[in-house]
Amino acid sequence: MEKTFVMLKSDGLKRGLLGEVLSRIEKKGYKVLALKIQNLTKDQLDKHYYEHLERPYFPSLVEYLTSGPVVHMVIGGDNVISGIRKLNGATDPEKAEMGSVRGDLAINMTKNLIHASDSLENAEREINLYFSDDEIVQY
Ligand code: CDP
Ligand code: MG
Repeated sequence: MEKTFVMLKSDGLKRGLLGEVLSRIEKKGYKVLALKIQNLTKDQLDKHYYEHLERPYFPSLVEYLTSGPVVHMVIGGDNVISGIRKLNGATDPEKAEMGSVRGDLAINMTKNLIHASDSLENAEREINLYFSDDEIVQY
C-alpha cells in the first residue's frame, strides 16, 4: 500500500480540527497507519523543510510550527500521495478550492493548517523523520 506523511500544523489542534481532518481522510477511504502528537524542534523543521531554509518565509514558518503541538500521521491507500494533496488543496488557502481542507478551513499562506508529502521520495523521507517502522501498523 502506498504511504504518505501528513501533519496537522499547530493551529489545527488548538482550533479543535483534528477530528474534522481525520474524518475527511477516513471518509475518502484512506487508512490511518500511525498517529503522534508532538512539539516540534527547530532542528526537526530544518530537516523537514530543508528545501525552504533560505526562503524569506522560513522564520515565520518555524515560529508558527513551534507555537504549539502538531499531529503527525502516516496515511495509506491507493495513490494516497497525490490524493491527500488534492484533499488538502492549494498551498494558499485563498486559492484552494472550497471543499478542500485548506479551502474550507485554513487561514493564510503560512497558517495553512496541513502538510502532506509531495512525492514518493519525500513521503519515505518525512515518515522516517518522525516514525520508526514499529510505530506503523498494517490492516
Ligand atoms: O505545503 P505545500 O507543499 O503545499 O507548500 P510548499 O510550497 O512546499 O511550502 C511549504 C510551506 O511553507 C507551506 O505549506 C506554507 O506553510 C509555507 N509557505 C509560506 O509560509 N509562504 C510561502 N510563500 C510559501 C510557503
Ligand atoms: Mg511542499
